[in-house]
Amino acid sequence: MCADEVLSRCSGLALESLIEPGGRQVQYFVTGCAGFIGSNLVDRLLQDGHEVIGYDNFATGQPEFLVSAQQSSHFRLQQGDLLDVECLTQAMRGADLVFHDRFSVRRA
Ligand SMILES: NC(=O)c1ccc[n+]([C@@H]2O[C@H](COP(=O)([O-])OP(=O)(O)OC[C@H]3O[C@@H](n4cnc5c(N)ncnc54)[C@H](O)[C@@H]3O)[C@@H](O)[C@H]2O)c1
Repeated sequence: MCADEVLSRCSGLALESLIEPGGRQVQYFVTGCAGFIGSNLVDRLLQDGHEVIGYDNFATGQPEFLVSAQQSSHFRLQQGDLLDVECLTQAMRGADLVFHDRFSVRRA
């Protein structure tokens, strides 16, 4: 599945219409952002001019998948585990929309 497919599956959300009247950009929160799908999704959202917070514990994620994203001032990376509720809650504060790309989460 590619980022375009993920976004097209979400087309019912009319993402562009989420830009607030005052012009404030929607802030997206992407879990599993250093993975295959997550990193492509992050790149696509940034390319479309959005603000993105990426969240990943780098269990299998690749830092090099985020090289392009990290050059953008619209991207913020938070390393953390989805099971760390405190870290997760803190990281996603202010986000308008969540792409939960890490579908299953298990305790190690
Ligand atoms: N790639 C595909 O074609 C495809 C197809 C169908 C379903 N999926 C599912 O989509 C999801 C993402 O796929 P992918 O190919 O991008 O996988 P991936 O392994 O490349 O990415 C998953 C990311 O999640 C991170 N992660 C794992 N556990 C975490 C945790 N507890 N807290 C924070 N981050 C965590 C990993 O470090 C990694 O960066 C997976 O669940 C996969 O099974 C993928």
